[in-house]
Amino acid sequence: MKPRLKILALLAPAVLFSALGTAALGDPSFKARMVNDDTPEVAEIRQLGENAINRLATTLVREVTNAMVKDGPEGALDVCHLKALPLTNGAIAGLSRITAVKRTSFKLRNPANAPDAAEQLVLDYIQKQLDYGDAPPSLLVQRVEYPAGAPEWRVYKPLGVMPKCVACHGDAAGQSEALRAKLAKLYPADQASGYHAGEWRGLIRVTVADAPANKL
Ligand code: HEC
Repeated sequence: MKPRLKILALLAPAVLFSALGTAALGDPSFKARMVNDDTPEVAEIRQLGENAINRLATTLVREVTNAMVKDGPEGALDVCHLKALPLTNGAIAGLSRITAVKRTSFKLRNPANAPDAAEQLVLDYIQKQLDYGDAPPSLLVQRVEYPAGAPEWRVYKPLGVMPKCVACHGDAAGQSEALRAKLAKLYPADQASGYHAGEWRGLIRVTVADAPANKL
């Protein structure tokens, strides 16, 4: 039986990331590692990331739910993406340390959401945990170092499929003609259907900027 993410999220297991260690991604000088250090800096990044993800996820689910009540799933399609977030000077309103937001998955609806190399590592890591029957962590912190340029803190949260997600990500047979037609038109390469409630859908991730004092 596949572990259900909703239940897993409550367990919040303390997972050690040493198994993943440091992974070289194509370019050997590009490094990404999971960070579970018990330092004030990591704790702050984790907290900022978690707060932002929770807020963004709540807003998104609320807006999609409202739009579905008003216009049905086909009318709500335009709402289920992150493009509408108000960005000012690269930061999201009210979340000054959050400089990027993205959702990604193994099975994409929009190819523009394809994982980059560091996200791919996290997807693979979680898939492996699920394959072993283990509970994936409810939150992951990753440090990405680039050959040139500043390193980056990323915080990820696995997303589970809730019953309301199935309206647009479930079996095509359960969708209206209008919804199927609109999906086919907007997303001709759509792979993100056929999901059931409780399955793992993908990741939401934010990039958290270093504290101002660290930028000196
Ligand atoms: C009203 C229809 C609708 C509902 C309901 C919906 N989605 Fe989506 N979802 C979409 C569309 C459309 C996209 C493509 C957005 C874009 O163009 O970036 C998408 C994209 C995504 C992505 C980004 C990866 C990809 O496939 O492109 C994730 C992750 C995702 N949805 C998860 C969820 C989850 C979790 C829920 C339930 C909380 C949900 N969706 C509910 C329509 C929906």
